[in-house]
Amino acid sequence: MKVAITGGTGFVGGHLAVALAQQGHQVVVIARGVDRRPWATEVLSTKGVSIDFAGLSDGDALRRTFDGCDAVAHCAGINREIGSQTYVAVHVRGTRNVVQAAEQAGVARLALLSFLRARPNCGSAYHESKWAAEEIVRSSTLEWTVLKPGMIFGRGDHLLDHLTRALCTFPVFTSMGCRRVRPLAVGDAVNILRAALIEGRLARRTTPITGPTELEFDDAVRLLATVLGKRTLLLRAPIALTYAVARAAELMMTVPLIAVAQVRMLEEEVVEPVLAPDPLPADLLPVTAFNDESVRAGMPDCSPFGLTDLRAFAKRADARETRA
Ligand SMILES: NC(=O)c1ccc[n+]([C@@H]2O[C@H](COP(=O)([O-])OP(=O)(O)OC[C@H]3O[C@@H](n4cnc5c(N)ncnc54)[C@H](OP(=O)(O)O)[C@@H]3O)[C@@H](O)[C@H]2O)c1
Repeated sequence: MKVAITGGTGFVGGHLAVALAQQGHQVVVIARGVDRRPWATEVLSTKGVSIDFAGLSDGDALRRTFDGCDAVAHCAGINREIGSQTYVAVHVRGTRNVVQAAEQAGVARLALLSFLRARPNCGSAYHESKWAAEEIVRSSTLEWTVLKPGMIFGRGDHLLDHLTRALCTFPVFTSMGCRRVRPLAVGDAVNILRAALIEGRLARRTTPITGPTELEFDDAVRLLATVLGKRTLLLRAPIALTYAVARAAELMMTVPLIAVAQVRMLEEEVVEPVLAPDPLPADLLPVTAFNDESVRAGMPDCSPFGLTDLRAFAKRADARETRA
């Protein structure tokens, strides 16, 4: 089959691209080329994966890419707003463009990656925009699937990457109290996406996905510290302080250490789904535990945060690259 993946150089989209290409499918990933993590390069060097550079605002480019595709995985998304890249622009208008382009190109199936607790009128622009994207997908003429994962981990992710680098940089963490999470291994998420896109299972379903291990977020941090052989101190702090750290990180960092939307996710815990009525069939239930083995497999090298993680320095480096 031929499958297009928006956000295909990102974490989940990239794992899906590699898995489908390795199974002999033809994969075209769509991205703007802004995401330049080493993981993106690895994905693009996989045999059977090609890239079309386009943003979600370019409906014509999306339709040209989707021509001849059997299925589309819509994995592009953001977790902080920068300039014109607002939640409404990327998640709502972007999803409308993706759905229209898929319908015009005669694509049969489309799977959307939403979020476990996406819902309307909850006071979080991230959650509300993901819900609006779900509604657009559900009202399409396509054979659609809406997947609502919680927190996903694995190689090339944001979770293990940021926690590892933070543990290698700072001796102290702000505690999230006793807030629970159910981390989902990216391999399990890809397995479910594959079932929807290739096998046509989960059609017209809105399905929550969480991992099999439930633990407090603070214990996840402690587990990573143990695997890394680092000592860390978790300090109780009011949630308002964590929001303030997230706002500062969004302003200053190329990829924020933690984003405001992520604090909101942790504040309300990443365990119980909202407005996700269709359970997974038993054979697709996630099986990978969150333990030292799965964590070690997804962890990057222990490299501390540095100046190039700051937006001001990254801009200068970009300008130097452009002049060269
Ligand atoms: N990771 C998780 O724990 C998690 C949990 C629940 C739900 N989700 C959802 O799952 C999806 C994938 O997450 P992820 O962790 O794989 O994200 P990711 O690693 O940040 O990848 C997202 C990709 O989307 C692309 N993108 C962003 N804005 C775009 C735009 N305007 N036009 C075209 N492409 C754009 C980016 O590439 P360029 O910048 O190069 O275009 C990026 O590589 C997201 O929608 C996210 O909300 C993720």
